[in-house]
Amino acid sequence: TKKIMIINGPNLNLLGVREPGIYGNASMESYLPVLRARYPDVQLDYYQSNVEGFLIDKMQEVGFPGGIVLNAGAYTHTSIALQDCIRSLHCPVVEVHISNVGQREEFRHHSMIAPACIGVIAGFGLDSYRLAIEGLLAMNDRLEQYILDHTDQEG
Ligand code: DQA
Repeated sequence: TKKIMIINGPNLNLLGVREPGIYGNASMESYLPVLRARYPDVQLDYYQSNVEGFLIDKMQEVGFPGGIVLNAGAYTHTSIALQDCIRSLHCPVVEVHISNVGQREEFRHHSMIAPACIGVIAGFGLDSYRLAIEGLLAMNDRLEQYILDHTDQEG
């Protein structure tokens, strides 16, 4: 089985209640079972913290081979520490946003973590998480095929 970890940063524990006009009415707790049902072959783990350092602790601790889907919330726009952390990991990290950050305030247009991530998905509501998982799975498949191809050549 493939392991993918979803990590949510500050204020995302309030999903469904917080600014529903921007972030929708669904909580992560209600959305996770939907995601898990959709990807029965993937072990989808979830972690949320409002504390920058705890997000880093978790990412260092898990080192998930399949990848990490990271919504770093507002730390996206400020955190060099998160960028450094992502650079040090041996698994791909996808930056995710529920809202289209490019459409919002100027201070949300810059991402401190994007340079260290494999890709960015924003603006699709909670479906952004699923799209990030799709991206990781497609990438893992390519990687597995690549390894298979090269093993064949060795005989
Ligand atoms: C967010 C966008 C960030 O700018 C904001 O600080 C958040 C949520 C999103 O998912 O749209 O907390 O990451």
